[in-house]
Amino acid sequence: MNLIFLGPPGAGKGTVAVKLKDEKKLPHISTGDLFRAAIKSESDLGLQVKAIVDRGDLVPDELTVAIVKERLDQADCQNGFILDGFPRTEAQAEALQKITNIDKALNFYVEEEELIKRLSGRRVCKQCGASFHVLFVPPKKEGICDHCGGELYTRKDDEIESIKNRLSVYKEQTQPLIDYYNNKQLLVDINAAEAPENVFTSVLNILK
Ligand code: AP5
Repeated sequence: MNLIFLGPPGAGKGTVAVKLKDEKKLPHISTGDLFRAAIKSESDLGLQVKAIVDRGDLVPDELTVAIVKERLDQADCQNGFILDGFPRTEAQAEALQKITNIDKALNFYVEEEELIKRLSGRRVCKQCGASFHVLFVPPKKEGICDHCGGELYTRKDDEIESIKNRLSVYKEQTQPLIDYYNNKQLLVDINAAEAPENVFTSVLNILK
């Protein structure tokens, strides 16, 4: 099953993808995670994209498509994948169409006010990348990851100025993909305003 997770920043795409990956044994490909790993390792790619990611702009299509293509060519993607946060522009969607077919594009929708609350309260594990929320998905021990004991931190792009920019970039460049995939009859809407376990159940029901 070749899946795309569409939706604004903070809609809960990553939270669902991590669970679905285990449930369906599908690789979870998050372009945001790929860029953050490159930034952490200070690779050439990381140095090129750090400032762009920190301020919440989109990395140029050419670079983004190249890393996704490379990832999709790997053996574990041959029986399906979850693409989380890609495509984000029409040019990326067109490029993806040339690389592989898509079975469904899941559109996670949530009101903007809720997105801001989710993003500003998000905490991420420095070690394993697990995502928490100070109010909605709190770790058992403040500041410490439940899964690996790593330290939790706030992403640079979860500061309020970057959040606002990401939401406006989403509206301008990514929201048009809802129509794009609707016209191809691949779009399925997911009410992502519910509690995390309910959102996950909705996704499982749709994929039955
Ligand atoms: P990326 O990492 O993809 O960021 P994003 O799309 O902005 O998505 P987020 O990770 O912020 O949100 P999410 O929907 O996954 O929510 P999450 O599950 O974490 O991209 C980062 C940057 O990389 C981009 O800004 C760009 O610069 C670059 N980039 C990436 N892809 C690119 C592309 N294709 N082209 C160009 N550039 C690209 O949840 C958020 C919070 O809410 C968490 O705290 C979580 O615990 C909580 N939460 C989740 N679900 C619920 C729920 N149901 N109820 C209550 N709280 C919840």
